Amino acid sequence: MDENHKPVELAKGVYWLGVIDWNLRDFHGFATPGGGTYNSYLIVDDKIALIDTVKAQFAGELIKSIKTLIDPSKIDYVIENHVEMDHSSSLPAIMRIAPQARVFATKHGKAGICNYYKAVGCDEWDFEVVETGSELSLGNRTLMFIETIMLHWPDSMHTYLKEDRILFSNDAFGQHIATSHRFNDKVGDVMDDAATYYANILMPFGSQVLAYVDKVKELGIEIDMIAPSHGIIWRQNPEQIINAYVRWASGETVPKVLVIYDTMWGSTERMAKEILHGVMSKDVDVKLLNLRKNDWSMIIKEILEAPVIAVGSPTVNNGMFFPVGGFLTYLKGLRPKGKKAVAFGSFGWGGGAVKAVEKEMESAGFEIIEPGLQVKFRPDEDELESCRKLGIRIADAAK
Ligand code: FEO
Repeated sequence: MDENHKPVELAKGVYWLGVIDWNLRDFHGFATPGGGTYNSYLIVDDKIALIDTVKAQFAGELIKSIKTLIDPSKIDYVIENHVEMDHSSSLPAIMRIAPQARVFATKHGKAGICNYYKAVGCDEWDFEVVETGSELSLGNRTLMFIETIMLHWPDSMHTYLKEDRILFSNDAFGQHIATSHRFNDKVGDVMDDAATYYANILMPFGSQVLAYVDKVKELGIEIDMIAPSHGIIWRQNPEQIINAYVRWASGETVPKVLVIYDTMWGSTERMAKEILHGVMSKDVDVKLLNLRKNDWSMIIKEILEAPVIAVGSPTVNNGMFFPVGGFLTYLKGLRPKGKKAVAFGSFGWGGGAVKAVEKEMESAGFEIIEPGLQVKFRPDEDELESCRKLGIRIADAAK
């Protein structure tokens, strides 16, 4: 069998048949140096259900994989856990082959699908709107749906296969990595990848994550396997990723400082390095992160577990240097909670960047722990000493 289209059995009659996107390097701005996957699942029982599809460019690969198991025209149900294009844009191709299939989605899911696919005949599709607790019998097996509003879109839901205790969690618990293996017990530690994914996709929705975990407990759902729609499947100790989500959503941090900056002629960088040295002198973990030499999605992952950050920018046209402004716009949207910050930077003929950074950080929800530090032109020895002392104070704040 063609290895590219070889399904992987999760349980008897339950298959992964997604697509490994080895060349994915940018997922709508999220850096993916290790590629990614779009996971689709097929359950073959008295009735046949397809759970989620893949990016439209890979529709042909998905259909080839389905054909290795069944005739795709026999699909009875398509479960659309989430409308975003990476999971739904092959739906039109599936519905052309299996026009009788019923599509299951939440109320918002149906509305989103009908908006996206109006031009390709979604008015003709047979929809069933589901909510938390709705069930679908496949014969010997039963699917239960769990709405996960704002995890991470209003339409999102999870699908739970009761008899096999498999949770199809769509975006939640995913990671952007491409690997020839499908299960977590076959690969090394992927928790860093899961953290990067959480920080960049789910960080704004911590309270919804905690409410979701409570809901799963309330529903009495027992989970033997978590099968997300990106990355590896959590087969061994699936509680580990749920526990990690609870830690991240609760805002747990470790003593760590990040010095995040950009520089034009080196003055702000000199300040950044002296702040770094001040933190290091207190034996607190610290990273120096230049905004044009590091992927922003990796910096966001570092912020997830850092209680304090220092953000530096030179002044350009009375405001922030534009890479700093762009990064803070991204950070603000992710709404990190319970974190502290301080600003620093250099200017030539007129300042403005430090105030602008402080304003932006405040509106992003950071507590500004002291007025920002700024220097004119090039920092002298006294000013560098002030930077070192600032580093010592923020190290103390991180403990
Ligand atoms: Fe993987 Fe929200 O899409």
